[in-house]
Amino acid sequence: MSQDQFKKMAAEAAIPFIEPGSIVGVGTGSTVTHFINALGDIRHDIQGAVSSSEASTKQLKSLGIEVMDLNSVGSFDVYVDGADEITAHKHMIKGGGAALTREKIVAAVARQFICIIDDSKQVDVLGRFPLPVEVIPMARSYVARELVKLGGDPQWRQGVVTDNGNHIIDVHNLKILNPVELETHINNIVGVVTNGLFAQRGADIVLIGGANGVQTIK
Ligand code: 5RP
Repeated sequence: MSQDQFKKMAAEAAIPFIEPGSIVGVGTGSTVTHFINALGDIRHDIQGAVSSSEASTKQLKSLGIEVMDLNSVGSFDVYVDGADEITAHKHMIKGGGAALTREKIVAAVARQFICIIDDSKQVDVLGRFPLPVEVIPMARSYVARELVKLGGDPQWRQGVVTDNGNHIIDVHNLKILNPVELETHINNIVGVVTNGLFAQRGADIVLIGGANGVQTIK
């Protein structure tokens, strides 16, 4: 079986966590694409979705799922999203799809974060996957210099503009031993919108697709 089939298994395993009549927070990426397809099958059982990207919004709407404005809903139960890396502490690196800021906002409002991944995403220490940082375009070079001071090797993801009109810097060669602290530190650099460490608000439940089926970590 392929990694994509493992992603699909994890995505479909998230469906039983969706309560009838609820609003569902929806992430972004290839694993979430499988989740949205599965959500399409139960679209009459949910109130609607809050989306973390234009891409997910488009797919949700194409399946007839109502996309609600986050400002018009209160808190909701479940946010489902993938990750680029995740540790045993359920700390993550996200943002490979450049949707990290909206993902972090929607995740903050949800009571539970359900992370859906294939088994290649599990790591002991975060940082092999370059850490995405969303920056205000005019601050790009300044932020890059500050990231060098932290020991990273920042690279501008050229040609990518986020849904918020900003740029992405991918920080290579960081060995992230204290993700909670580093998340705050990078967010405090002037010009940073947010960074792809999801440690202060990590996942609550992880569904991992692999050769032996789906493993659930709570
Ligand atoms: C997008 C993300 C994705 O969740 C992350 O990149 C994982 O993507 P995929 O499911 O395609 O492996 O954070 O910004």
